[in-house]
Amino acid sequence: MNLHFTEEQKMMRKMVRDFAVSEIEPFIEKMEAGEFPREILAKMGELGLMGIPVPEQYGGAGMDFTSYIIAIHELSKMSATVGVILSVHTSVGTNPILYFGNENQKQRYVPKLASGEYLGAFCLTEPGAGSDAAGLKTKAVRKDGDYVLNGSKVFITNGGEADMYIVFASTDPAAGSKGISAFIVEKGTEGFIIGKDEHKMGLNGSRTVQISLEDCRVPADNLLGEEGHGFKIALGNLDAGRIGIAAQSLGIAEAALEKSVEYAAARSQFGKPIAAQQGIGFKLADMATAVEASRLLVYQAAFMRQNNIACGKEASMAKLFASRTAMEVSTEAIQVFGGYGYTKDYPVERYFRDAKICEIYEGTSEIQRLVISKNLTS
Ligand code: CAA
Repeated sequence: MNLHFTEEQKMMRKMVRDFAVSEIEPFIEKMEAGEFPREILAKMGELGLMGIPVPEQYGGAGMDFTSYIIAIHELSKMSATVGVILSVHTSVGTNPILYFGNENQKQRYVPKLASGEYLGAFCLTEPGAGSDAAGLKTKAVRKDGDYVLNGSKVFITNGGEADMYIVFASTDPAAGSKGISAFIVEKGTEGFIIGKDEHKMGLNGSRTVQISLEDCRVPADNLLGEEGHGFKIALGNLDAGRIGIAAQSLGIAEAALEKSVEYAAARSQFGKPIAAQQGIGFKLADMATAVEASRLLVYQAAFMRQNNIACGKEASMAKLFASRTAMEVSTEAIQVFGGYGYTKDYPVERYFRDAKICEIYEGTSEIQRLVISKNLTS
């Protein structure tokens, strides 16, 4: 594994860091008040950030997977909201079409997604099927050349804002996970109903909604891959998706560490900076070590994915460890800041609220352990 970034990757890192400071930082207050960052996404589209790993022939930037992970990491350091919007749009919104779509579907949707004209989303989770994704109840029945979809989806990131959704439904309930199929559904399709917005603990600028499918007619041309291949499409894309969430977690943890180091150097108690007091100095040392270990896991998984090496286990390890680190480091950051850390005058309470979901979405930490342990014994 090469731990050194290429010149191109370093340029991506610098570009995203500069963009985060000039465009995202001034928008954080609005996102915290619940505003979806449309303007930011439009600018990201202009810079090619909405299709980083998409080949140029489909309108993307044609860059490698590591460059994409660098972008999620750096964006999330400023705003985990922007990080998750991009991660879901790319990893599970665009890639299923890129990897499993036919040429017509790729031509029709990928350039729009890669340019940012369209935002993507992924509808797998249901009220009764979270970790047990294969237990989904949404049904798709073939009728007059279309599929008619009925069911409910929950916790849909980018829902309501997205223009195109990858929707999973069962075409053969008796076949269990082998009866699940994937469909491309455009916003505005009759019977595709955007429901309640979730009021979340963090990621305030990202939208999370319920969706109902009520006799929603989807043209047969929008079946992604073959009937019954949907579960593999979902899990295959979640491997890469989980590296994105791991990078998001790394961004949060790194931001919390940097703010803590800065504050601990500036804040004096008992006649010297608190960083020079062992209680805080050792805390910072543990935080920095966990962040560094997360970085190695995240970029190892990215390197493997980029080189087409099976990385389900490593992606799960990166997500498990980096999300736990984000939670631990942001908790400790509040402790370093003391009473100030508990106020909204400093960003560490935001990091703490944003970190928690990283241990839940795209597979809970328990599911990551399940994937890792299955890989160890199979
Ligand atoms: N890639 C491709 N195929 C895979 C796969 C992978 N990573 N993992 C499993 N499969 C295949 C298996 O090979 C198997 O097929 P075969 O029988 O032909 O071999 C089939 O899928 C079923 O596999 P399992 O028996 O292992 O499936 P399971 O139902 O026992 O368990 C699970 C799978 C790991 C628990 C899985 O259901 C899972 O990951 N659950 C978590 C769901 C999840 O991550 N949801 C996230 C929602 S999206 C989201 O959160 C986005 C967001 O908003 C931010």
